[in-house]
Amino acid sequence: MNCSTFPSLVLALVQLRLCSPTTQNFSAQNTDQSYTTIQRVKRGWVWEPLFVTEEETSTMPMYVGQLKSDLDKEDGSLQYILTGEGANSIFFINEHGKIYVRQKLDREKKSFYILRAQVINRKTRLPIEPDSEFIIKVRDINDHEPQFLDGPYVATVPEMSPEGTSVTQVTATDGDDPSYGNNARLLYSLIQGQPYFSVEPKTGVIRMASQMDRETKDQYLVVIQAKDMVGQAGAFSATATVTINLSDVNDNPPKFQQRLYYLNVSEEAPVGTTVGRLLAEDSDTGENAAMNYFIEGDSSDVFGIITDRETQEGIILLKKRVDYESKRKHSVRVKAVNRYIDDRFLKEGPFEDITIVQISVVDADEPPVFTLESYVMEIAEGAVSGSLVGIVSARDLDNDDSPVRYSIVQGMRLKRLFSINEHNGTIITTEPLDREKTSWHNITVTATETRNPEKISEANVYIQVLDVNDHAPEFPKNYETFVCENAVPGQVSVNELADIFLITMKI
Ligand SMILES: *[C@@H]1O[C@H](CO)[C@@H](O)[C@H](O)[C@H]1NC(C)=O
Ligand SMILES: *[C@@H]1O[C@H](CO)[C@@H](O)[C@H](O)[C@H]1NC(C)=O
Ligand SMILES: *[C@@H]1O[C@H](CO)[C@@H](O)[C@H](O)[C@H]1NC(C)=O
Ligand SMILES: *[C@@H]1O[C@H](CO)[C@@H](O)[C@H](O)[C@H]1NC(C)=O
Ligand SMILES: *[C@@H]1O[C@H](CO)[C@@H](O)[C@H](O)[C@H]1NC(C)=O
Repeated sequence: MNCSTFPSLVLALVQLRLCSPTTQNFSAQNTDQSYTTIQRVKRGWVWEPLFVTEEETSTMPMYVGQLKSDLDKEDGSLQYILTGEGANSIFFINEHGKIYVRQKLDREKKSFYILRAQVINRKTRLPIEPDSEFIIKVRDINDHEPQFLDGPYVATVPEMSPEGTSVTQVTATDGDDPSYGNNARLLYSLIQGQPYFSVEPKTGVIRMASQMDRETKDQYLVVIQAKDMVGQAGAFSATATVTINLSDVNDNPPKFQQRLYYLNVSEEAPVGTTVGRLLAEDSDTGENAAMNYFIEGDSSDVFGIITDRETQEGIILLKKRVDYESKRKHSVRVKAVNRYIDDRFLKEGPFEDITIVQISVVDADEPPVFTLESYVMEIAEGAVSGSLVGIVSARDLDNDDSPVRYSIVQGMRLKRLFSINEHNGTIITTEPLDREKTSWHNITVTATETRNPEKISEANVYIQVLDVNDHAPEFPKNYETFVCENAVPGQVSVNELADIFLITMKI
C-alpha cells in the first residue's frame, strides 16, 4: 500500500511486535500472534491493536506504541493528547506520539482500557483531525494456577462395573484468559489410581479402567492433576484427591462354614425350642447378603427353620417333640438361598448352598412310668389287717434305669388305712374296712427315682370295699324280722340282691 495515496494524515499505531492485521489464529503454536486484531479505519486514523502484557514491572515507563503522522515534520508543531481510562495516570503520550505505560497491569482486574487520541496544532490549538477512540488490551500471562474448587470429591460406583464406566468428573478453574493462548487450557492426568481408573485429559471425567471387586478392596483414593498451558513448560498445576467407594452388588453366593453340623436337642425340649443356629456366609453386604433358609429331609416334619433378619442366621426350631428312647438321631439338609439375586451373576452358579445337620436327641432323666395310669383294686370288707389289696409297679425308662421307691400320698385328715411296700409296690390294709362306712378308698401312690428323688410320678388307685353280709337288713317300719333263724352262712342277703340287680342293670 502506498502511503502517499492517503489525503492528509495517517496515524499509524505501531505495535512493538507487529501483528499481521488478519491473524486470527488461537492455536498453541502461534501464541505471539494470537491476539484479536482490532482494525479500524476512521477518518484517516488507522488503529492497530495495542496491548500491554500484564504483570510487567520496570522502574522506567514502558513503551506501548506510537501515533505517527505524515504531517508530523518532527518539528514539534504538533501535540498529541490522550484522554480516557488511565490517560495521563497509567498511560501517557510524549511529543513524538509515543505511548508509555507507567505501572504494572493486571488483566484479571481490568482486561482493557478505552482511550481517545487527538492531534492538535501546538500553536493554534486546533485539531488536525477529530479525536478517536482506541483500546489498549492487557495481554494475559500465565499468572494463575488451576484450582479445584469443589472438593472434597467423593464418588460411589458399583463394583464390577465394566471398563469405561464413568465414575465422576472433576473440574479445575484457572483465572487466566481462556480465550488467549493456553494459559487457562487445562490438561487432566492421573497421578494415583492406575491401573484401576483413568481420566479424560480434556474433561476431567474419571472412568473405570478395570473391573473391580468390592470384596477385595472397597475404597480407592485417586489423585488427579490439572495442568494449564496444556501441560507444556511453564505450566502451573493443582491436584485433587477423589475418594471412590465401590458399592456392593450381589456377586457372591452364600456358603456354609461347614459341610456337616452337629446339634443336640433334649428330649424334654418343648415345641418351639431353638435347636441351633447356622450361618451361611456371604461376603456381600446389606440385602445382597440377605438369606432364606429351607429345611429338607426325613426329619423335616420334626424341625423347622426361620431366618434371623438381623444376623441372617438360620434358626432351627423344634416342630415336634423328640423321644430319645424311640429315635436318637435326626438328620436334615439345610439350604441357604440369597433372597435377592442379580441375574448378571447367575451364570457363575446358583446363589445357594446346602449343608447337612445331624441332631442328636439328648436323653433326659424322665420320671418313672407306672404300668397303668390308674389302678382299680378290691378288698373284702372286714379283711384282717395286713391283707393284700394289690400291687402297683413303676419303672425308670431312662438308660440308667434307676430303682424306684413307692409311697402313698397321705390325705391330711384321712386315717391311714393302707400301706405300700416301698420296694415292690405291694399295697396292704392296716386295719379291717367297713363297707357301710366307705365303699371306695381312692388313694394316690407315687414312685420316686432313688438316684434322682426329684423325678416323681403319681398314679391313682381306686380301692373298692366288697360287701360281706355282716348287717341284718333294716326296715323303715318296725316289721318283724323274717330272716330265718336257721339261715345258712353265705345266703344271699337282700342288700346283696339289690347290688346284683344294679350290676345287671349296668350290663
Ligand atoms: C492456525 O495454525 C494452525 C497450526 O499452525 C494451522 O493449521 C491453521 O490453519 C491456522 N489457522 C488459521 C486460521 O490461520
Ligand atoms: C465411602 O466408604 C467409607 C468407608 O467405607 C464410608 O465411611 C463413607 O460413608 C462412604 N461414602 C459414601 C459416599 O458412600
Ligand atoms: C452334644 O452332646 C454331646 C454329648 O453330650 C457333647 O459331647 C457335644 O459337645 C454336644 N454338642 C453340642 C453342639 O452341644
Ligand atoms: C414284697 O415285699 C414284702 C416284704 O419284703 C414281701 O413280704 C412280699 O411278698 C413282696 N411281694 C411281692 C409281690 O414280691
Ligand atoms: C372313688 O372312685 C370311684 C371310681 O372312680 C368313684 O365312683 C368314687 O366316687 C370315688 N370316691 C371318692 C371319695 O372320690
